[in-house]
This record gives sequence, C-alpha cells and structure tokens, in this order.
Amino acid sequence: MIGVLGATGAVGRTAAERLAASGLGGLRLGGRDAARAADVARALPAPAEVMRVDLTDPDELARFCTGCTIVVNCAGPTYRVLDTVARAAFAAGADYVDIGGELAAKDALADAAVPGGRTAVFSAGVMPGLSGLLPRLLAKGRPPRRLDVYVGGAAVFTPLSAVDALLTRGPRFGVPMAAWREGAVTPLAPLHGVRLPGFPVPVHAWPYLTTEAQTLAAECGADEVRCYNVFVSDRIPQALSAAWADVPDVHAVPLETLQPHASEVVNASLLDNADFGAFYVMLFTARPHRGAPAGPARMLLTAADSYALSGVVMALAARAVLAGRVPAGAHLAAEALDPDETVTALRDDPLVTQLTLS
Ligand SMILES: NC(=O)c1ccc[n+]([C@@H]2O[C@H](COP(=O)([O-])OP(=O)(O)OC[C@H]3O[C@@H](n4cnc5c(N)ncnc54)[C@H](OP(=O)(O)O)[C@@H]3O)[C@@H](O)[C@H]2O)c1
Repeated sequence: MIGVLGATGAVGRTAAERLAASGLGGLRLGGRDAARAADVARALPAPAEVMRVDLTDPDELARFCTGCTIVVNCAGPTYRVLDTVARAAFAAGADYVDIGGELAAKDALADAAVPGGRTAVFSAGVMPGLSGLLPRLLAKGRPPRRLDVYVGGAAVFTPLSAVDALLTRGPRFGVPMAAWREGAVTPLAPLHGVRLPGFPVPVHAWPYLTTEAQTLAAECGADEVRCYNVFVSDRIPQALSAAWADVPDVHAVPLETLQPHASEVVNASLLDNADFGAFYVMLFTARPHRGAPAGPARMLLTAADSYALSGVVMALAARAVLAGRVPAGAHLAAEALDPDETVTALRDDPLVTQLTLS
C-alpha cells in the first residue's frame, strides 16, 4: 500500500495520479477533508482507498501509516512538519518520501532515528529537488568553472507554499544575495530586467545561495555556483521582504502570525499571474574550464505548472525507493536520485513542455 498524504493538494493530486498509473501498488489517499480525497480517488486510473487524517494528530497519523510500504507526504507546511510524518512512517515499518523539509527535516530526523533498512527521501520537488539534481548532468566528469541555476517564473502560490517560502530563512536554508566561490560564500547582486534563455519575458533574478546549491558546488567540484530565484516582477520579493522585516524570526512564531503575510505573497503571485500568465522555467548553465572535455553546457526545462511537476518528481522518488534504487538512510532527493533516469522520465511526462540539454 502506498500512502499519499496531502493527496488533494496542488502537488499531491499529481503525485497520486502518477502513482496510480504506475501500477506500483494500491493507494491510500489522506487529508483532513475526506470528501475531497474521495473526489480525487474517483478520478484516478486505479482504485484507491481514502482515509481522513490530520497529521498533527499522532493517533490519526499512525493509523494512516499502518499497512503502508511507503508514505509519500505532499502535505505541509514542510518546514513545520519536519520529521513528524517520517517518524510515523518508520514506526509503521514504511519507507518515506517528502515534498520538502530540506536539511532542517533531515537533521531533525537524525540517523539514529532511521530504523535499519528503512529509507527517507526529503525535498523531492522541483525546488528544492530538481534544482539540485539536474545541474549534475552538466558537471558529470568535468567539474565546471562556474555553474548557474535560474529557477522561477509566474506561478500562483498556494497558501501553504507561501508559508513555506516565508519559512526558508536561516542557515539551514540558504544565504540571500550570495554566491559560492572557491569554497566561500561571497556577495552577489540581483539581476533586474534581464532576458534569460527559456524565459518568455525579461525577469528579475534574486541570488539565494541555498544549502542545496552549496552541496551541489561541493559534490560537482564547481569553482563557483550562482543560484537565483526568478520573478517576473518585484511584487513577490517585496511581499517576502516586508514579511521578514515584520517577523524577523519566522521559526519562533505561531503559524497564525505568518498567515496574513502568506496572503500578501499569494496576492502578489496572483497579480503576476494576471499580468504574465503561468509559466515555470529551470535554466542551468555550466562554464567549463579551458581544455575540459566537450559536453553539454545548458539545460532548460519548462512547464506550465510547477506544483504538478513537483507531484511528478514525488512519484519518481517513490518509484526509486520502492525499486530499491535509493540506499537505506535519510537523504535529500538531489543527492539520492539518478539524474539520467529522472531526465528520461521527465521527457516522457506530458507536464514537461521542453527539456533540452545542449
Ligand atoms: N519542493 C518543491 O519544489 C515544492 C513545490 C511545491 C510545493 N511544495 C510544498 O509542498 C507542500 C504542499 O503544497 P501544495 O501547494 O500542494 O499545498 P495545497 O494545495 O494546499 O495542498 C496541501 C495538501 O495537504 C493536506 N493537508 C494540509 N494540512 C494537513 C494536515 N494537517 N493533515 C493532513 N493533511 C493536510 C491538504 O488537504 P486538507 O486541507 O484536506 O487536509 C492538501 O491535500 C507545501 O508545504 C509546499 O511548500 C514544495
């Protein structure tokens, strides 16, 4: 049994669809609104059971996980959920895949809490997730002089992901206005009104050196890594900055304090969407060292819906775990999934409008 928690959400619906179509096993769909989960179940290509579950209730969570071989958690906010669902999955003898969590969740879980033979994969979405996995293909066998990551576009934030965007503050997440250069964090300025390959309009690129990008730099042997969040206007960066000015320690306050600020972020994304429509672009570029062997220098992935695309990645991660292709222990998807297999699967997925390596 594959348990999909948050199966009615923007990410979870697609994860459930792809898992149902993969024939890997029966599905159990969970969320607080069982009627909504039943609607999702009816639309799937294979029968699925539905269970009401609030992940903040330990008994309900334990009941949801019981009988599952793997729990696929698409519910959030992930930076508050952290390792809660992973621990419940392990207690039920199941493996685990999570849409987010990053180092904060992986470290909260701690190796000692992973029972022998069990596997957990965190951050199995587009960013974090594909953003740290796909650039590895540009660095395979030839550590680049410089690797650039540009991810974003005009996507409407869901309220939950707006809360998570507000929570990506602090050393476990990244350093704003910074790049990685020769083993050190160095300042980097934003780019305003730039034309970037694959982006249909001029965009604003804000440097955010994620911990994922720092690991990427170390594991690829890149001298320099620049990682940008890309927006079509200044509305979302301004909404985020205003929130952080008002609530400097986002991790110390109750969710209710963040909710009005999350609404401002959602509103900013709705205005962007009204002006520019919906598009999502992942652009990775590598500058090789002189004399390096020939190889691809640019990867471009485009999609209309980054949430649904994250659901595709969740299903791919679950498939990899169930097939035994991810070793036991706790991992981040960018470090644990196979980039070649992922690209092959993404190329076949109708949600990906373009995926080129040149
Ligand atoms: N890594 C990435 O690239 C990436 C991309 C997109 C989103 N995300 C993250 O993924 C998470 C989901 O985002 P989304 O846009 O899909 O959100 P969403 O559309 O609001 O969906 C959330 C899902 O979780 C369920 N849920 C919420 N609270 C719950 C609780 N306490 N107990 C059980 N189920 C609960 C919801 O159902 P009910 O309301 O019925 O409970 C719904 O099914 C967010 O944390 C977001 O930040 C990550």
